[in-house]
Amino acid sequence: MSESGENALTRAARARRATGLPLADLTVSNPADVGLGWERSELAPLLGAEGCERHEPDPLGRKDAREAISAYLSERGAEIPAARICLSASTSEAYAWWFRLLAEPGDNVLAPEPSYPLVADLAELARVEVRPYRCVRAGGRWRVDASTLRPDARTRAIVAISPANPTGHILDADDLGALQAAALAGAPGCALLIDEVFLDHRAAGPARSALADLRGSPVPRVALSGLSKVALAPQLKVGWSALDGPRAWVDALLPRLERLADTYLSVNTPAQVALPSLLRAAPALRERLAGRVRGNAATLAAWCGTSGKGCAPAPREGGWSAVVDLPPGVDELALCLRALEEGALVHPGHYYDLSEPAVAPSLIVEPVVFAAGLGALGRALARC
Ligand SMILES: Cc1ncc(COP(=O)(O)O)c(C=O)c1O
Repeated sequence: MSESGENALTRAARARRATGLPLADLTVSNPADVGLGWERSELAPLLGAEGCERHEPDPLGRKDAREAISAYLSERGAEIPAARICLSASTSEAYAWWFRLLAEPGDNVLAPEPSYPLVADLAELARVEVRPYRCVRAGGRWRVDASTLRPDARTRAIVAISPANPTGHILDADDLGALQAAALAGAPGCALLIDEVFLDHRAAGPARSALADLRGSPVPRVALSGLSKVALAPQLKVGWSALDGPRAWVDALLPRLERLADTYLSVNTPAQVALPSLLRAAPALRERLAGRVRGNAATLAAWCGTSGKGCAPAPREGGWSAVVDLPPGVDELALCLRALEEGALVHPGHYYDLSEPAVAPSLIVEPVVFAAGLGALGRALARC
């Protein structure tokens, strides 16, 4: 890292862009940047619907929006009444609120590795210690390594992400069992914070919320999600928390959450007004994105089999990124810097704390760009 905090790859990517030479960007994660977002003509009427002109704040968020989220969760097996749902300006903001509500400075939260680098920054802002636990590969899938879950009397929350980014790991019954046992061994009221932003982006099978599988559990739990991935609309800045668990815990936490949300009232009214319509329209957009992800995943598998020089795709159950194992002995940062020279930008595995040498391309990139990026990666591999 340089003093400005910019790492070697970011610096090299900026320099490459400045040359004006073509660059296949395999790090794109915003659907709108790759032709998979909303048309302005579709979005504008929804945001401008009746009610967008008024400000009648409800700290938890508009009731019709929360009812639409309750119905969304019910379709995924979880029965959470609208009164137990709270909107926020993003999933990231919801994380920050929960760290604030559950933990005091010096407390700790357990969080998965590998993972998208978000939780550590949010926890640092809340002055909460993050203790990583590992997700590992076994039997052709990812799973939580229970031996790395180390709660103590100051563990206030356990973060779980399903499907995870970038691995696509979906929590199964064993994973949920290990996470519940760890929560019960933490501080009283230690909660599971389950990030389900990619819930609808499964490689196969219907989406099912972990809240459905945890019904009746004595562990407090919150599902976090938002429109950025559910409705492919990160620009609208809407997230939510859905609370479940022992009645006494919910009754104690809800008023505190409501007070915190009331202090900020951070969710804009037009997006709340549009939310029920956005959720109704989202499946068609998600289907289009799923087609792109399937196509690029097939291209990747074929490339690994022919010109990938020993690269292999890791198991993937969902999400819209891939993890690609590199051949033994290849230095992933050196490879990514060479790939840039050849015309592709891709995240190295250490960006996500993957333990083995890997790269993690986005699978939502336009197919032509994706293929060009793999071509550049292949040329870079030949030079390693
Ligand atoms: C697993 C995961 N959770 C949360 C987020 C952030 O979601 P939001 O845009 O709602 O803050 C991301 C962003 O990519 C993510 O990968």
